[in-house]
Amino acid sequence: MRSHLTTALPLLAATPLASAQINKWAQAAGLKYFGAATDTPGQRERAGLEAAYPQYDAILADNDMFGSTTPTNGQKWLFVEPEQGVFNFTEGDITADLAAEQGKILRCHALVWHSQLAPWVEATEWTPETLTEAITLHVNTVAEHYKGQCYAWDVVNEALNEDGTWRESIFYEVLGEDYIKLAFRLAAEADPEAKLYYNDYNIERPGGKVNGALRIVEMLQADGIRIDGVGMQAHFVAGGSPTLDEQIEVIESYAALGVEVALTELDVRLDTLPPTEETLALQKEDYKNAVGACAQVDACIGITMWDFYDPFSWVPYTFEGEGAALLWFEDFTVHPAYYGVLAALKNATGLCASKAKRGMAQLFNA
Ligand code: XIL
Repeated sequence: MRSHLTTALPLLAATPLASAQINKWAQAAGLKYFGAATDTPGQRERAGLEAAYPQYDAILADNDMFGSTTPTNGQKWLFVEPEQGVFNFTEGDITADLAAEQGKILRCHALVWHSQLAPWVEATEWTPETLTEAITLHVNTVAEHYKGQCYAWDVVNEALNEDGTWRESIFYEVLGEDYIKLAFRLAAEADPEAKLYYNDYNIERPGGKVNGALRIVEMLQADGIRIDGVGMQAHFVAGGSPTLDEQIEVIESYAALGVEVALTELDVRLDTLPPTEETLALQKEDYKNAVGACAQVDACIGITMWDFYDPFSWVPYTFEGEGAALLWFEDFTVHPAYYGVLAALKNATGLCASKAKRGMAQLFNA
């Protein structure tokens, strides 16, 4: 028996990915999906890297690896309504169509956000009435265009400062917190099937900003406006991420208000490059904790990474000198963190939580 095992091990190591797909294990742990966001071929971070597309596309196309996707940019205001009243769904449709063709769950992102806004929105002198009209046209048109295709919409993105106070966006300046109520009311009418999320970063560890997110959920509920979920973006730094317990506590605090939770933009960047054995080990631990926290709490229903292939990541463009935040290196070998993710998911299937039980039942009935 013993010698049999030792001869089998090198073989297993030589075929690491064949039986180790993430989404399959996520579903076994009772999650609805483990997915990866993706951008439009040829655009932004992907420009000039066309040689990598065949291998990249093959990994993304494997539903055992990634069961959902999100357009990293294509549904944002800048792209869908570049001029007032002029809509362009070309980029957003590329990812939505890919999801439909591959039978993947689609998370839609993002209806109202202060960033990547079309320039005209900030250049216009608004009254509360005219801005309400503009938001109404935008949310109605975009949500109706994608009606029936989105498992969830990030209705409002990043409305909070770090201390949990309201961010001074153009929307807040003109309408106060009412813009949030307006956006959720409109989205609920335009796409009754989609789960409506509030989405933000740094709301994964207890503190002022988490209290702000809880306040948003309560504010909408108090007015009888539907909100179904909180999206924890989960953009982390290796070695500086919230602990497993902190993340579990926060997920449970959202769940206590009756909403579901998802990790919506998971990545764990290294703040020094090149990667070392040590920094990659820290990253592995952080991925394991983030995925483990979600998999262990019933209310956390899915995990999306913000792409999966390092060269396509937003991180090096946004955080100077940082990177290697995803699970696949440039040469398509996987980070040690890939196995951290798998370990967390496998561990959750063994916990006998009600969610894992559902997941195992799903797997065996399939
Ligand atoms: C990022 C995209 O990945 C980049 O390509 C783009 O240049 C900037 O935005 N929070 C969000 C995402 O909600 O929409 C952001 O995506 C990353 C931070």
